[in-house]
Amino acid sequence: MDEKIVRPPSPMPRIGDKAPEFRAVTTQGDIHFPNDYRGRWAILFSHPADFTPVCTSEFMTFASREEQYREANCELVGLSVDGLYSHIAWLRTIKEKIEYRGMKDVEVNFPLIEDITMEVAHKYGMIQPGEDSTKAVRAVFFIDPHGIIRTIIYYPLSLGRNFDEIYRVLIALQTADKFSVATPADWNPGDEVIVPPAGSCGVAKDRMENTDEDVHCYDWFFCTKKIGKEEVLDAILKKEEHFH
Ligand code: BEZ
Repeated sequence: MDEKIVRPPSPMPRIGDKAPEFRAVTTQGDIHFPNDYRGRWAILFSHPADFTPVCTSEFMTFASREEQYREANCELVGLSVDGLYSHIAWLRTIKEKIEYRGMKDVEVNFPLIEDITMEVAHKYGMIQPGEDSTKAVRAVFFIDPHGIIRTIIYYPLSLGRNFDEIYRVLIALQTADKFSVATPADWNPGDEVIVPPAGSCGVAKDRMENTDEDVHCYDWFFCTKKIGKEEVLDAILKKEEHFH
């Protein structure tokens, strides 16, 4: 009698956790994740399947922007529950045949993990059976240079990701680290940032009395300051200042 293997659900990784470790075969050779990426940011993302239209549009978009992520000290790593030869054939098709929204001859140079056993997909909570029990959802994990998960975004199978938002999240995380600030709704480089909350009654009073010209307070607990776009981007995009 055929017995279906029922895998107990793995715990979902959470923001602030160490990124689960794995070794994998990819279109760019073997990788040991996140160890090989120490000192750099990594975006680990999954897609449902090779040779599917939404995924093709996403890969072309991500590959076209790879240099922009590199400048922000960030490497891209893709994954789907397909084998290496399917990955290679699909990426060759993308390069040789697909022209989409002005993108053509697109070479995907970042690694695409083969995960037929779904081992990595399960470790990262990418298989969500209510959506599909064998295809990975569109997950995006932002992992910092110390191997810590800093943001997770999940999309269903039918919804292509917004790559401006993914880049915005990366830059916002790096800005928060670099300047010890938080970023408000819809923040983009050049917009005002949120300064840490007043930690004492004295600081709260000073803030409301507006003793620091750079800081604008909407109330004692909600204060912002301006950091120019160039200052943000210079701090983040300069390669020589990156952590190693
Ligand atoms: C797609 O990438 O087009 C796709 C993949 C799986 C389900 C639905 C759409």
